[in-house]
Amino acid sequence: MGNLFDSVGGVWSKAARWCSHFLETPGKRWASAALLVFSIVLLTSSYIYWTDVRAITGTFLFKTSTSSSSRAAPNKPPVKVDYPLKCINEALTLTCPTNYPVKYESKASSLAVACPEYFRWIREDLRPWRDTGITRKMVETGNKYGDLRLVIVKGKAYVKMYRRSFQTRDVFTVWGILQLLRLYPGKVPDLELLFACGDRPVVKKRDYQWPHGTYAPPVFHYCVDDESLDIPFPDWSFWGWGEINIRPWGTMLWGLREANKRIKWKNRKPYAFWKGNPSTSGRRADLMKCNVSDKQDWNARVYAQVIFLHHQRGTEPDPLKYRRVLLKRSKIYKTNLYKIFIEGVAWSVSDKYILGCDSMTLLVKPKYYDFFTRSLVEKKHYWPIKPSNLCRDIKSAVEWGNNNTDKAQAIGEAASKFIQEDLKMEFVYDYAYHLLREYAKLMRFTPKIPPGAVEICSETMACPQNGPWRQFMMESMVRSPKDTLPCTMPSSSSSP
Ligand SMILES: *[C@@H]1O[C@H](CO)[C@@H](O)[C@H](O)[C@H]1NC(C)=O
Ligand SMILES: *[C@@H]1O[C@H](CO)[C@@H](O)[C@H](O)[C@H]1NC(C)=O
Repeated sequence: MGNLFDSVGGVWSKAARWCSHFLETPGKRWASAALLVFSIVLLTSSYIYWTDVRAITGTFLFKTSTSSSSRAAPNKPPVKVDYPLKCINEALTLTCPTNYPVKYESKASSLAVACPEYFRWIREDLRPWRDTGITRKMVETGNKYGDLRLVIVKGKAYVKMYRRSFQTRDVFTVWGILQLLRLYPGKVPDLELLFACGDRPVVKKRDYQWPHGTYAPPVFHYCVDDESLDIPFPDWSFWGWGEINIRPWGTMLWGLREANKRIKWKNRKPYAFWKGNPSTSGRRADLMKCNVSDKQDWNARVYAQVIFLHHQRGTEPDPLKYRRVLLKRSKIYKTNLYKIFIEGVAWSVSDKYILGCDSMTLLVKPKYYDFFTRSLVEKKHYWPIKPSNLCRDIKSAVEWGNNNTDKAQAIGEAASKFIQEDLKMEFVYDYAYHLLREYAKLMRFTPKIPPGAVEICSETMACPQNGPWRQFMMESMVRSPKDTLPCTMPSSSSSP
């Protein structure tokens, strides 16, 4: 269990840093008020489709903060809601509505946009099964790794749980797939897949001497490394992490944009900043040695964060306490020009929040990758740091940045741009969509609902929830099918 808690500690601290970012800026009151208003808007109107959130919030902020500047378009069409959440009895919604559309024709007249470059990894990740296809036997072999089996038949989803995963990772992962089904009704093909919700990859290459011997089981997971064959899928935090109050990615992206606008590059401190739980990996312990002391200054300001705040399932979080803790901690979180990213137990969901901060990321060479990080380019999106030369590399990276502020700033901005544009929720869904389609194409068997599986839908998942879990589900719920086409995959000729 230790490792699981560690990963939580790590992410929490990054979230806190992100928040402090927000709270410390001159516009902090304004910004927190905006956030508060934003949540009220979300809570009271559960009929806002997330892509409209920005527009709606924008309208509100315009009206309250500036009187002279132009107002938002007054004739915005009402938000379309095709799928309201129908909870018949909050605690006992155990059946799924039967009247959801399972087919939807998008307005094909709209031109599909090209998918971001990182979509080419979909084919790479499925390459082990390209020639053999995926047989039922291969999937069954993976039972020992999977925490759950997800089956989609005729647009409906069924799940069979093997193990409870940590916190609500499994719940929010499945929730994400359910939202995908709402976004593209009838377009996600029938399939059967296994999902592992732990920290580290589970299918080791060395156990499956592909292409000879036993074939590897295809198992979906959040990250992969060079020694594993797990198929990376967007992690649960894109839909929210209730236990540590990390809101769905659509909201966080908005928050990052707002924060970046307020913290000017020249007001950031010229140091490399890190805060997190150092006990999760040897590398992190090494990083502690790079901290400033009387004898040396490696230009690093690192903080050990072992306390973390998280909500237990079944208890209501105390927002006042949460805010107090944040404010107290924010006093030591300074906004810095450079942010260090260093892995803990495995990959960390915090990468996207750090890269989206406009500061130049000093990326300690990672071992694990999630679905998008493999396409980040060194010295374009981040500055590489060798783990074997940690302190020296950090020192010279910061020196270089301070000597070349334009270039360092450009790297920070390129990463933010990647996060804001290529990793927007629309593409996260499209990645999941294309990955599932390519996977289904390889399947050599007809998916069937296994004994013990239950039908799941947004109602059965969200209606019994309370607290932040319910809030984040409402916030990330897809309310209408998308009326444009999914992005088009990069052609297979452009393989790496
Ligand atoms: C690093 O140095 C700062 C400033 O002296 C200090 O506040 C902080 O606690 C140190 N971090 C660790 C992990 O010792
Ligand atoms: C930065 O500039 C200083 C002063 O000109 C120089 O001594 C140092 O070597 C430079 N460092 C790097 C990493 O470019």
